[in-house]
Amino acid sequence: MLDLFAGCGGMTRGFLDEGRFMGIGAVEVDRAAAATYAANFDPDGRHTFAGDIAGYTDVPRVDVVIGGPPCQGFSALGKRDPADVRNQLWREFVRVVRESDARMFVFENVDRFAKTPEFQLLLQAASEEGELADFDTQVFRLNAADYGTPQKRIRTIVVGSRVGPVDAPRQTHARTSGEGLEQWVGLRQAFLEGPVVLDAQVRETWLPESVVDFQGHEVPGTFKLRDLHITRNHDLISEVRYAHIAPGQGRFDLPDDLQYPCWRRHTRGAGDVLGRLKWDEPAVTIRTEFFRPEKGRFLHPQWENGGDQVNRALTHAEAAVVQGFDERHLWCGTKAEIARQIGNAVPPPLARAIADVVARRLTSG
Ligand SMILES: C[S@@+](CC[C@H](N)C(=O)[O-])C[C@H]1O[C@@H](n2cnc3c(N)ncnc32)[C@H](O)[C@@H]1O
Repeated sequence: MLDLFAGCGGMTRGFLDEGRFMGIGAVEVDRAAAATYAANFDPDGRHTFAGDIAGYTDVPRVDVVIGGPPCQGFSALGKRDPADVRNQLWREFVRVVRESDARMFVFENVDRFAKTPEFQLLLQAASEEGELADFDTQVFRLNAADYGTPQKRIRTIVVGSRVGPVDAPRQTHARTSGEGLEQWVGLRQAFLEGPVVLDAQVRETWLPESVVDFQGHEVPGTFKLRDLHITRNHDLISEVRYAHIAPGQGRFDLPDDLQYPCWRRHTRGAGDVLGRLKWDEPAVTIRTEFFRPEKGRFLHPQWENGGDQVNRALTHAEAAVVQGFDERHLWCGTKAEIARQIGNAVPPPLARAIADVVARRLTSG
């Protein structure tokens, strides 16, 4: 398979975990992300194209092309500028699918992608007169929590196939257990009872000093998941604010004297701002700035009146676990670059569930 817009390789991780795929190409313009991909899946750096997809012309023949172009152009949080060049990247995806002679493709994007003109154009490309006329498409709206990820993250998945339709990926978890489904994985299970136990008390704020050579360039890394268990120094007034916010609450629950002056005038708006996560629920969707509590519901769930209180955002390691990564995954880049890789990734457990139905179709003759 070939992974386009590969990021840190979350999608590849899930496909490889399924067991029947082999990655033989990846395209990623961000050098740190490409280095992370290579550290995990291409140690000699031979099949990772670290550049703009427009310059990727030496396309190998593969069975499957997977990938998710950047979503800033589509996401409700982005500016949604229709002229945004990032919105045109799906065209490059279509070009590479054609040139690779793939039998199937998997295109991942944000939930609201399904409401954009680009989505219609992608479906058109796979219709009778389009460039991918021999492909049939199926569209799935999937929540990563339904596949064992400790996070509610809804994504649009377009599966294109020249060899017949796939079954819907089989859900393994649900909000409440029953009928053969397990209950969604909450943060308590993910941070305290899973294979990686992450101590809530963290003092370290720096990544270890280490660099690797990636295709002739020095990149910070390679780091293990535990190296990413780092926090930041929040100022005192911020910590006082965080201390007032119980699990499930957010900035509207702050007393008046602790409201930010610029917020007082805004009594409505994103309720998730300065929100605290809950121990026994999956996290909300992790984004690239999960380390800033002001950007969403990213405060650690540990909050006891008078007890051990954890007044910080998730660490990078916690965010990676929330995205379904484990200790096998290695990381390269600065703190901000790694945060971006984590926030952008497709959760490997979700990718694995998709890989399963794709592999079944490809091997069923
Ligand atoms: C949503 S992320 C993909 C995440 C990835 N599928 C995963 O599971 O980890 C999109 C990626 O596309 C990359 N990208 C953006 N523009 C690109 C371009 N013109 N060529 C190649 N990669 C690009 C970004 O650097 C980003 O890492």
